[in-house]
Amino acid sequence: MIDRGKLKELQTREEKRFVADHPRSAAMYARAKHSLLGGVPMNWMKKWAGAFPIFVALAKGARFTDVDGREYADLCLGDTGAMTGHSPEVVAEAIAKRVREGITLMLPTEDSLWVGEELKRRFGLPYWQFALTATDANRFAIRIAREITQRPKVLVFNYCYHGTVDESFVTIQGGLAGPRRGNIGPPVNPEETTRVVEFNDLSALEEALQHHDVAVVLAEPAMTNVGIILPDDGYWRAARELTRRYGTLLIADETHTICAGPGGCTREWKLDPDFVVFGKPIGSGIPGSTYGVTEEVAQRITARIHLEDCDVGGIGGTLAGNALSLAAMRITLEKVLTPAAFERMIPLAKRFNDGVALEIKRHGLPWNVIQLGARAEYHFSERPPRNGGESAAAADFELERFLHLYALNRGVLLTPFHNMALISPVTSEADVDLHTKIFREAAEELAA
Ligand SMILES: Cc1ncc(COP(=O)(O)O)c(C=O)c1O
Repeated sequence: MIDRGKLKELQTREEKRFVADHPRSAAMYARAKHSLLGGVPMNWMKKWAGAFPIFVALAKGARFTDVDGREYADLCLGDTGAMTGHSPEVVAEAIAKRVREGITLMLPTEDSLWVGEELKRRFGLPYWQFALTATDANRFAIRIAREITQRPKVLVFNYCYHGTVDESFVTIQGGLAGPRRGNIGPPVNPEETTRVVEFNDLSALEEALQHHDVAVVLAEPAMTNVGIILPDDGYWRAARELTRRYGTLLIADETHTICAGPGGCTREWKLDPDFVVFGKPIGSGIPGSTYGVTEEVAQRITARIHLEDCDVGGIGGTLAGNALSLAAMRITLEKVLTPAAFERMIPLAKRFNDGVALEIKRHGLPWNVIQLGARAEYHFSERPPRNGGESAAAADFELERFLHLYALNRGVLLTPFHNMALISPVTSEADVDLHTKIFREAAEELAA
């Protein structure tokens, strides 16, 4: 369908334009190569479309400016870390105040009470703990699940992503579980620690749980890290029933699916998990994350932790639950990621979705676009995929990079992983429409 020769030609043109437009970023990248591994402060930053990452000068709201003075509409929003919009004024003020009043003490502040109570209201789970990253929150929840069930394994869905949780870097290859492509230095073959099945496949789930060795299912309520994959109608009701039947717990990782509403999919879809995990934007980008547990999990784990050993059990961390993190979470939940904000964000994501859908149809492209709350994403397949294997098979890295670079060159930043776009409370209609216009132009050029 896509003329690959044409695509290459367009890509070369866009790459040249990118280099010509970003001399300062180019110079900084050249310098960075002498002190930063791979020339970037964090390895994923190499993945941006273009010969080098653009260096940021200033980010505010839903826009940012790079060191070459070019301005962008940001639909990546720090891969959800800045879903709040960059540096909301109220957050900046609250954080600055807290910074002057003590950052970390390994003692609680009153903010932790407010945040715990708010999380309880939003998600319905009664008890909460804090960590610094969603990865850590997942790891701690898994440890608790293993401890209380006394079972060794974790179950994940094929092509999931839950942070750098060793157990989750596994895919199905030729019917067998094995390290995911690109898995760097796996401590053991994850096949030893993990069962992996396709999303939306209840019989595969039941077959895996029947071994009675799975402590916990770690899942996003809708997959978002291999494109958006929605659960089939009734999937979670049945899956939850299966986990209960086989004595397995369930973690709802809402780190991305928080885009569905103020209480994530857990609240929107009335899910009933044993744990909820939420990280990234919970403190407007100030490092912080949380995991909540049910009354039953709380009782079972409390009974097994002895005071003398509570600091060496493998959950928690020196800076976890620090005063700054909690102040950032409080102001974010109180003033930024509010129910009213979602009422604005979700229709805007629909506008994004509908605009892209119309262009896909108009140009007869064999693609589709899916919305989940404030997030939307297009896939290079005719119909929305039902599981990770299907979605990964439809991936087209070359085409994806072209579309990302094409958008970047025209002032729109998309997440460098698949084709994810996120709407913040301060994203404008004009920015959404700018993306649609650019998408249309790219489609026209590809079809010409
Ligand atoms: C669903 C989900 N869970 C957890 C994480 C890990 O977040 P962090 O990298 O902040 O630890 C991610 C990151 O992309 C994620 O998408």
